[in-house]
Amino acid sequence: MWYDFQYKGGEYRVEDVSVKKIVEAVGTPCYIYSNSALEGDFDVFREAFSEISPLICFSVKANSNLAVLRTYANLGIGFDVVSGGELLRVLRAGGDPGKIVFSGVGKTEDEIKAAIEAGILFFNVESIEELQVINDVAKELGKKARIALRVNPDIDPKTHPYISTGLKKSKFGIEISKALDVYKEASRMEGIEVVGIDAHIGSQIFQLDPFVESLRKLIELGDALKNEGITIQYIDIGGGLGISYKEGEMPPHPKEYADVIKREINSTPYKLVLEPGRVLVGNAGILVTKVLYVKDGASTKFVVVDAAMNDLIRPAFYDSYHEVITVHESLGDEETVDIVGPVCESGDFFAKDRGLPKVKRGDLLAILSAGAYGFVMSSNYNTRPRVPEVMVRGEEFFIVREREAYEDLFRGEVIPDFMK
Ligand code: LLP
Repeated sequence: MWYDFQYKGGEYRVEDVSVKKIVEAVGTPCYIYSNSALEGDFDVFREAFSEISPLICFSVKANSNLAVLRTYANLGIGFDVVSGGELLRVLRAGGDPGKIVFSGVGKTEDEIKAAIEAGILFFNVESIEELQVINDVAKELGKKARIALRVNPDIDPKTHPYISTGLKKSKFGIEISKALDVYKEASRMEGIEVVGIDAHIGSQIFQLDPFVESLRKLIELGDALKNEGITIQYIDIGGGLGISYKEGEMPPHPKEYADVIKREINSTPYKLVLEPGRVLVGNAGILVTKVLYVKDGASTKFVVVDAAMNDLIRPAFYDSYHEVITVHESLGDEETVDIVGPVCESGDFFAKDRGLPKVKRGDLLAILSAGAYGFVMSSNYNTRPRVPEVMVRGEEFFIVREREAYEDLFRGEVIPDFMK
């Protein structure tokens, strides 16, 4: 919750721990998560849907740190995974395999096998070919795989094109007009048990209509299936609810989202499945970085920090906005600066033309709302070790992922003999 990240006594704190104290222990850059915020934001979401108790499957791609996943596992929720690696993480974190849904356009046979063996709830199947492969793998294992078809409802979620996934031209899902035939085929397959319908239309969505429109199409399809003698139990509407990255930005409150969804699903026999990612973790984490240099360009003042696009790629990739604040509360005059990282790309920035209190070499900055699609999208570009992740709980903090060492970065690389 917002109150888990605040200035107290002139210093920015996560819960009851000063960011400065964490930095003294782990250095910069570092990600810091608030356990209380994770739980609080989840409570708000769960509470919004409480009357219909849906299956909430946290979308692991948003933040897959084991301690984050364990937080959710302890709350008894499910998980949406998109790879064998994510599946393994959830199991390692103590997640209930019976509450896992497996999405993604390119599942390999090994991943399918591992998921069937783990006993996941269902696969969200994205093509006929995939359906056939799942059928084959299940038969080989002497099991039945539960599936939902991910349909493409052709809906514009009115968000960034890179994170719109339910449009006709998108690579995701099966065209909704063809779904009925695919379901019929699926219901005849020996290794397949049809249990649901799924769609995910995009991410960071601020309008409720696209969700409603998509859900209506799924319910309509469910009813059409019933007429064909195919009964489904689950309707999975994916994730996508937006969060506020900027002061004044007003995404729908989870309660408003829940209200419009409940209105549609209430009178149906289907159990709702949700795959929220960002809305659960986005505002529960920050990235802390140190000012390396302040320099005057020809027309721009640059604040060069020690974090870079490889640590948080969202601004470079989507031109996303993240608030940047000073860790030491500063009430002085603001100046307009670009906040940039050390990576050799012009796209390596966190903020452009941004008002920031005057800072100097050594000052700490916090990049806010970095809990979702932050560390998980980080890379070793420019041979930069990936940064540590820290979890705060009350007055304590825990390193939940160590900083990588240079040796970690060379691991597995070999100079062939002929070069010696
Ligand atoms: N379910 C499926 C099938 C998804 O593909 C996604 C996200 C979610 C659920 C969770 O969506 P959320 O509730 O977090 O919006 N890297 C981008 C976002 C990519 C989203 C990909 N899919 C970003 O940083 O904005």
